[in-house]
Amino acid sequence: MEAMAPVAASTNGHSPRPIRGLPPGPRMGRVMQTAIWSRRAQWMLEQSRARFGRMFTLQIAYEGDWVVIADPDIVKQIFTGDPRVFHAGEGNQILRPILGENSVLVLDEKKHIAQRKLLLPPFHGERMQAYGEKMAEIAAREIESWPTGVPYKLRPRMQAITLEIILETVFGVHGGERMEPLRDALRDFLDLTTNPLALLPVLLVGPDRVSSIPAFRRRIGRVDELIGQEIAERRTAEDVAEREDILSMLVAARHEDGSPMSDAEIRDELLTLLVAGHETTATALSWAMERLVRHPEKLERLRDEVEAGEDAYLTATIQETLRLRPVIVAVIRQLTEPVELGGYELPAGARVTPSIHLIHRDPEIYPEPERFLPERFLDEPPGTYTWIPFGGGVRRCLGAAFAQFEMQVVLRELVRRHEITPATPASERPFRRAITETPRHDATVVLN
Ligand code: HEM
Repeated sequence: MEAMAPVAASTNGHSPRPIRGLPPGPRMGRVMQTAIWSRRAQWMLEQSRARFGRMFTLQIAYEGDWVVIADPDIVKQIFTGDPRVFHAGEGNQILRPILGENSVLVLDEKKHIAQRKLLLPPFHGERMQAYGEKMAEIAAREIESWPTGVPYKLRPRMQAITLEIILETVFGVHGGERMEPLRDALRDFLDLTTNPLALLPVLLVGPDRVSSIPAFRRRIGRVDELIGQEIAERRTAEDVAEREDILSMLVAARHEDGSPMSDAEIRDELLTLLVAGHETTATALSWAMERLVRHPEKLERLRDEVEAGEDAYLTATIQETLRLRPVIVAVIRQLTEPVELGGYELPAGARVTPSIHLIHRDPEIYPEPERFLPERFLDEPPGTYTWIPFGGGVRRCLGAAFAQFEMQVVLRELVRRHEITPATPASERPFRRAITETPRHDATVVLN
């Protein structure tokens, strides 16, 4: 099907009949499209938008047909659409053997909302303040151990910080003899979700049968055992009501019928928070530094304002980083029935994918979209459907406030302590690792 534009609004007041089927897209085969997507997603998206407009179809192996959306009005229709029709969990089934069947990420409709409600209170904006001090302590300790005067890769170190912060705030584990084994087991577990080779068994035998592979079961088993111990300990802890970590809050949480969360539910959600919140936030922090060191005047302004105890420029810097270098390029909703969008009647089963990358690079929304300009967010806060690094609607990232707060804390600690310059003048290009877009050279800088 080649470039037949959808019929524009008719002049006689009647809606034009939508075109049945998928919008046009690149004609090359699925294998070729998948290969380009995995190496040069941004380029492919931009080329396709230039050729086909704000709605086009890509064919990606294991993913089916993606109807890519680069129009904020259509993005709004998707994010506010009926969750029974726009399924997000269905697109995440590859994670089910790892995160478990209760994970908020793999569920849809009523079951999804039930888990999401249990998870929401600990992520309330005001609650973040309680974590601020611990986050700052962890960041300061880590940053003080970094070498000066030599090229240094920030991304792995940012991951160390975000893992430690999750251990403390989500699992409520600090120091003690249980910390080391848990940290090691969680690192190994994270490798399962970020290393494409480790995920291969899921792709090959499918999410339902992968648990029958002994090596796979063993890897999951170790982490399950340690988390099981933490949950058991917390269920009997006398001070659980006063504790502020998310595990303690989930132990105290109740379903609508008054029943507590089961061990399996708590286990699945803890691991979901780890997987969703660890690499993403570390990557966003790495990009913030990758951009700032190449704009020394902006880094200087940020440092001055941080020293003066002001947050406005810091907030804008984080927003602009997430606009220009979104960690995830697109979110997915699978249609459970035919839906009319943008002049097409899309069939059930199609996957509509609001493109974070394309919306954020639209020159009509963001003049000079390629430039790193935190100033653009100083007077005007980001729009709900034009700034979407955390997705939207009932699936919007649960950790959005947590992640931005954590980024503020870490960046503050870092710019206060060091002069920071890039290791090479050239900007780092995005490089895909599993699902996140990371700086190709891990945000290599020189600290002084
Ligand atoms: C800069 C860091 C982060 C980015 C860019 C990010 C981005 C996203 C995106 C794009 C989604 C999908 C939204 C959608 O489909 O509409 C998502 C979902 C989610 N994120 Fe984040 N995230 C980040 C940090 C975190 C953190 C720190 C946590 C928790 C500690 C977290 C927990 C979750 C959860 C639980 C979901 C699933 C929500 C649902 O399906 O209802 N994320 N995130």
